[in-house]
Amino acid sequence: MTARFHNPVDTRFGWGCLQDLASITAQQTVTLVTFPEARALGLVERIQALLGERLVYVVEDVQPNPDVAQLRGTYERFWQQAGSCDVVLAVGGGSAIDTAKALIVGTESGQFDELLALLATGQPFVPAHCKTLIAAPTTAGTGSEVTPWATIWDSASHKKYSLHLDCTWPKVAIVDPQLMLTVPAGVTVSTGLDALSHALESIWNINANPVSDTFAVSAIEDILECLPQLRRDLGNPELRSRMALAALKAGLAFSNTKTALAHSISYEMTLHHGLPHGIACSFTLPLVLGLAWGHDAARDRTLQRVFGDDLDKAQAQLRTFLHSLDVKTEFTDYGVTPTEAAAMIRFALQGARGKNFIGSRAA
Ligand SMILES: NC(=O)c1ccc[n+]([C@@H]2O[C@H](COP(=O)([O-])OP(=O)(O)OC[C@H]3O[C@@H](n4cnc5c(N)ncnc54)[C@H](O)[C@@H]3O)[C@@H](O)[C@H]2O)c1
Repeated sequence: MTARFHNPVDTRFGWGCLQDLASITAQQTVTLVTFPEARALGLVERIQALLGERLVYVVEDVQPNPDVAQLRGTYERFWQQAGSCDVVLAVGGGSAIDTAKALIVGTESGQFDELLALLATGQPFVPAHCKTLIAAPTTAGTGSEVTPWATIWDSASHKKYSLHLDCTWPKVAIVDPQLMLTVPAGVTVSTGLDALSHALESIWNINANPVSDTFAVSAIEDILECLPQLRRDLGNPELRSRMALAALKAGLAFSNTKTALAHSISYEMTLHHGLPHGIACSFTLPLVLGLAWGHDAARDRTLQRVFGDDLDKAQAQLRTFLHSLDVKTEFTDYGVTPTEAAAMIRFALQGARGKNFIGSRAA
């Protein structure tokens, strides 16, 4: 079998590399999309100092999990007031990066509902305009800086849309662990677990290959060792750097495979039970590991590189790890009965991500 790995993002990594922003965007006008705390943290001012008058517009009220209810106004104001800028720069967690991915895709009418109608078809489309995206993550989790996907939520209708076009790959990712120093403990844990989930989901995946496996195994080893230490020592630059790199590696791994069953389950748990994304896509990992085991010799070998060859011990290791971070691992812990959980798993296996799961054909 020949493996193909493709990721077009120009990726910069290292403590302080946000500094490169000025040269990366030379002579271009920039819109900044960032999270509400960024101004108080001095981040908006820092970017202003780096870009000067080239920073022409700022969106700084991005809420967790970009929702159509807020995105509609943000999108239409952006295209009316800053429609001629060259670059959209996302500095934030996955919510800021995914918001920026939605903003860069311009519709003929400048109306957000035109974009939503295109997304609702589930079919690829060619946008009327598309701007260049640069992503600087401030959480170590989503990997959205090296993937083309954005999740757009419609919580009022219990729906989610997936945006994915050739032009929604960021042109440049600036992964500067220094930006992550201020992330609180709860978000550090939930985003770190999102990255763990990306890495595992890329392994028990019909699209996996030896290249994605290399990134995934390395990310899992780092996260299992590092995340509990980082939670106790949030200001430690070395641990922040290792988690930033682990999340980047996990992002690279699933940028070529997409996610699988744990994520498919997570969408239901977020939309119907309000679980934060990182917890929703990780509390089932021990269960999904059990469902993945024994379907494909190559996938088993990769999983065993991390966990050894005893499934019970492997699941216990993952459960103990999650419990050590105060994450509960049973559906009943979240108010979902065993019958409801079985139905949710069956439904999740039918979803686009569920079908990527190596166990889906046997289920
Ligand atoms: N596109 C993808 O490939 C992909 C993958 C996974 C998740 N996602 C999406 O990403 C979103 C979640 O992103 P997230 O987990 O990074 O969380 P987030 O972006 O929602 O941020 C979580 C919280 O942390 C705050 N925050 C972020 N950076 C901070 C910093 N440096 N200091 C202090 N506070 C900070 C934010 O304001 C927010 O309140 C969801 O919408 C999810 O669907 C996308």
